[in-house]
Order: sequence, then C-alpha cells, then structure tokens
Amino acid sequence: MLPLHAKRIVLGVTGSIACYKAADLASKLTQLGAEVDVILTAAAEHFIKPLTFQSVTGRRAYVDQDLWGPEGHVLHVKLGKDADLLLIAPATANTLAKLAAGQADNLLTLTALAATAPLMLAPAMDGGMFDHPATQASLETLRARGAHIHGPVSGHLASGLSGVGRMLEPAELAGHARVALGAGGPLAGRRVLVTAGGTQEPIDPVRVIANRSSGKQGYALAQAALDLGAQVTLISGPTALVPPVGAHLLRVQTAVEMRDAVLQHAAAADMLLMAAAVADFRPSQAADKKIKRAEGVPTVELAANPDILKEVSQQAKKPRMLVGFAAESNDLLANAQGKLASKGLDLIVANDVSAQDAGFEVDTNRVILLSKDGGQEELPLLSKYEVARKVLEKAASLLK
Ligand code: PMT
Repeated sequence: MLPLHAKRIVLGVTGSIACYKAADLASKLTQLGAEVDVILTAAAEHFIKPLTFQSVTGRRAYVDQDLWGPEGHVLHVKLGKDADLLLIAPATANTLAKLAAGQADNLLTLTALAATAPLMLAPAMDGGMFDHPATQASLETLRARGAHIHGPVSGHLASGLSGVGRMLEPAELAGHARVALGAGGPLAGRRVLVTAGGTQEPIDPVRVIANRSSGKQGYALAQAALDLGAQVTLISGPTALVPPVGAHLLRVQTAVEMRDAVLQHAAAADMLLMAAAVADFRPSQAADKKIKRAEGVPTVELAANPDILKEVSQQAKKPRMLVGFAAESNDLLANAQGKLASKGLDLIVANDVSAQDAGFEVDTNRVILLSKDGGQEELPLLSKYEVARKVLEKAASLLK
C-alpha cells in the first residue's frame, strides 16, 4: 500500500514563478498515493496550465471559472470538506493576506474558508515582500490559527536578487505533508527510536572496518513511523541518504557512539527498532597516524563492541517494545530465535541476507517476523518501506 493511500489533498497554487515546482509537488504527492485536487488562482494560470496538473495527478484541476459552472455553488464546500490537508504551494503575499483577513474572492480562498483540514502554507515571493510587515503580520495571524508554515528559504530569487523568499523544495514539502497527514495515526503520541546503517570502526585516521549496510531499511522504518504518527529519533551510521522530514537525526560513526546515543534516548522511547548493522568488533587501538605500507602488513587486534540491544534490555527504564533485526546468511530461523531470546526482545525481524534481492543495499527485502509469544509471520519480497510498515504495524499491535 502506498504511504498516502486514501488521503485527499487540495493543492492550492497561486501566482508565483515557483508554480513550476508545484507541478513536481503534485506529481510527488500523487506517486505517494494521495488523491490530489489542484486549484489554480487566476494569477497562477498565467504561469502554468491546469493541463499540467491534470497530467500528473490524473484528476481534474480547478480554476476560478469553475465557480460559475453547474457545481459552482457547492464546489468549494465539497473540496474543502473532503480534504485531509489543504496545502498552498506556492503561497503568494497576496493570498496569505487574503487568508489572514478571511477574504474569499476566488475558488481557492473560498475553499480555504470551507475546509476543516489542517492548512499548510509554502510562501514564495521576493525577499522584500516577505520581510514586509504586512506579510509578516499575515503569517503571524495564520500561524496563531494553527497553520503549518514551511519556508521560504534563502537563495536566488526570480528578481535576480538573493534573499529569503524561495519556496521550499517539493520533496521537503511532500515530507511535511506526510507528517501532517500521519498525525492521529496508530503511533500518535509514541516516541520511536530507530537505528540505521552500519557503524565504522577506525583502524587509523583514514581506514575503517565497515559493513555493507546502506541505511535504507532503517531510514524506511523512520519514515514509516512518521507516517503512522510517531515522534521519531533516528540514530544513523554514516550514509549519504537524506533523512525523512520530521525525524530528529543523530549521526554517529562507531558502535560505542551508537550505544551512547541509544542509551541516552532509550529511557524516553516507547519503541526501539535496531535495524543498524553494528560492528561486533573494533580495533582495540586505532593508530593515531596513517599506517604506512612500507612498515609491512600490520596485525590489527580486535576488541568486542558492546551489544547495544542486550544492554538496553537490561536497563530498568527501557522502551516497552524492543525490536531487533537478525541479518543471517544461514540457519535464519534458528539464529533469529536465539537472538530474540538472548537479547531480551519482543520482536525480531529475521533477514536472509544471502539472496540478491534482499538484505544489504538493495531496495527490497524479504523477512520473517518472530515475536516473543511464539508468533511467526513470513512476508513476501517487498520494498523496504513496505517491510517497515509491516514491522511497525506488528510492533504497534503488540504494544497495545
Ligand atoms: O541498511 P540496508 O542496506 O538497508 O540493509 C538492511 C540490513 C540488512 C542491515 C537490516 O535489514 C538488518 O538486518 N539489520 C541488522 C543487521 C545486524 O547487525 O544483525 P545482527 O544479527 O548482527 O544483530 C542482531 C541485532 O542486534 C540487530 O538488531 C543489531 O542492530 C543488534 N546489535 C548487533 C550488534 C551489536 N553489537 N549490538 C546490537 O545491538
């Protein structure tokens, strides 16, 4: 199931050059599974055509002229009442002022008055217009009324000047929309701690012992937890992945750093999901200067790293739900069962990493969920996001 399946978003588009980015935003939200109804203001129609939005959403895009059509007298009420989120991107200074004043002189502002859904605004305008006390007052009024305002950010503006006025990028806005739409989900009010990626253990200033974990499965867990309404802290080993919008990100390098970060946050968490591939061993003494080839082949003595999950499970104050992953190349079930018991877990995700399409680096995974109460659920090959949703739904049901 797509993350925004059955969610209805009204995307209001107002007259700014950032309209071209709104088409990408509409496309991204549609690809996430949302039903996106676009309303263009007359000024937006100068920059971009309804057909562009219809082509990416597969749905009709509305313009002011529709107010005077056969359904005109109820259109704004229907669009407003059906919406789970009203997102206006780009939002011009003019539309912000109208919204703050409660003016309703076009289909979009009429819909905004009729809507009961959360209002999200992505302002876009020249820097001087954004700084103007009138615009700032509009934003303050709207914020006080509960509107979520994201951006603008600093950068190159259409005027050729640089300053604060650029609309936030579509990917980030889509992330904020996910957070808003997740509110009230099955994990609302829960604090979820996720670890992701592999740790790196220094041998010398330039070399490390690492593993093949990309962080994809852990980042997918963090995103899925946000989609289900949780507050998420993501403790990540080194990776180039972009963290999900809304997650509180802590970057670590070594297993010891990851242990410290997990212990610091575990007491306040309801759930810990350890998808990280933590190095079991580290060089007992990292050289402080680069080891030279001319010095001959070095011997690297190893020391055991802490078992993070085991330590957490032995704490007096710990998350109510402890979820581990078992990355196995053989004897999957027996090894995973062993870790479930020895690490004191509620749930373990047995991950066969010997297959090409599952485990490290790839975008798909194939897992078996084993719970403390003897439950066993084998999942087919799924995307890592789908695996994450299944794991979280199972963990949430056990938490109840
Ligand atoms: O990051 P990707 O490329 O998307 O790959 C995903 C994954 C294969 C890394 C992930 O799905 C996975 O299986 N993660 C667990 C990897 C692992 O270290 O498994 P393990 O069997 O060695 O450890 C068992 C559990 O103990 C894990 O939850 C691990 O985080 C935890 N552990 C391990 C060692 C250690 N010193 N402390 C720990 O807490």
